[in-house]
Amino acid sequence: MAIRIAFTNIKGGIGKTTSSVALSVGLAQRGYRVLLVDGDPQGSASSNLGRKDIARYSLADCFDGIHVTRVIRDTEIKNLDIIPSNLNLLNTIKYLEKSERRVDNLLNSIIDEVDSEYDFIVFDCLAFDNILLTNLYVAAQYLVVPVKLDKHSLEGYDYLLNKIEIVRADLNNDLEIIGVLPTMYRHTNLHREVLESLKKSAVGELLFDTYIRTSIRVEEAPFYSESILQYAKNSTSAIDYNSFIDELLEALDLA
Ligand SMILES: Nc1ncnc2c1ncn2[C@@H]1O[C@H](COP(=O)(O)OP(=O)(O)OP(=O)(O)O)[C@@H](O)[C@H]1O
Ligand SMILES: [Mg+2]
Repeated sequence: MAIRIAFTNIKGGIGKTTSSVALSVGLAQRGYRVLLVDGDPQGSASSNLGRKDIARYSLADCFDGIHVTRVIRDTEIKNLDIIPSNLNLLNTIKYLEKSERRVDNLLNSIIDEVDSEYDFIVFDCLAFDNILLTNLYVAAQYLVVPVKLDKHSLEGYDYLLNKIEIVRADLNNDLEIIGVLPTMYRHTNLHREVLESLKKSAVGELLFDTYIRTSIRVEEAPFYSESILQYAKNSTSAIDYNSFIDELLEALDLA
């Protein structure tokens, strides 16, 4: 069975997509077979890897009955496939929310069809709570929660915990937070203080030792349809993402 990891936070713009793409690429570079599922109508993960192609099938089509194997695309990276997304996923959300059938486990059933083809399935989640997020939580096993180091780092965290508890109780008993990943760290007194206060906060025990430093290269990489691990593998952020991956593999007893 594939190990399924979702990147989630109820906050936007805090590094979910950058981190899920970096993990997917890094695992593929280590020889694991990886499927990245773009679970956001913005399609940023697809776009970051040059696979946001409106004319082709996307995740929305899986919910319309197109078989998942027709939707999966390969990428420039050996061992890495993607289920891309685009704005069509907004219609899917509307349709699922209106449905009177049970629809919270559809994505899980879709992914089960190809689970055995992969070592890891990585989900990039959207920043909003809706039926699509519930589907992502039902399909996933481990959650990584990126938090941006700013004044509002933990805003929404209690909401997130509550959502996870509801899904665990009713739909997916296996769901758990494997760790909280600080992102966009700058070497300033302020960020040092924010990091220290996070260590003493409710998430203290869940914090990865690794934090991801800010690098201008991260913002450049999508323009070349590449992850930071391909575009600038010696940048501070790429070095940190590789440490994060090592730490995660250790937590999964795979190091
Ligand atoms: N380590 C970093 N250094 C510099 N910029 C970063 C870093 N991590 C992320 N960014 C930038 O921050 C912005 C938001 O990152 P990202 O898209 O990964 O967040 P997100 O949580 O997925 O956002 P959304 O909620 O919109 O999906 C992007 O422009 C990205 O390039
Ligand atoms: Mg995103």
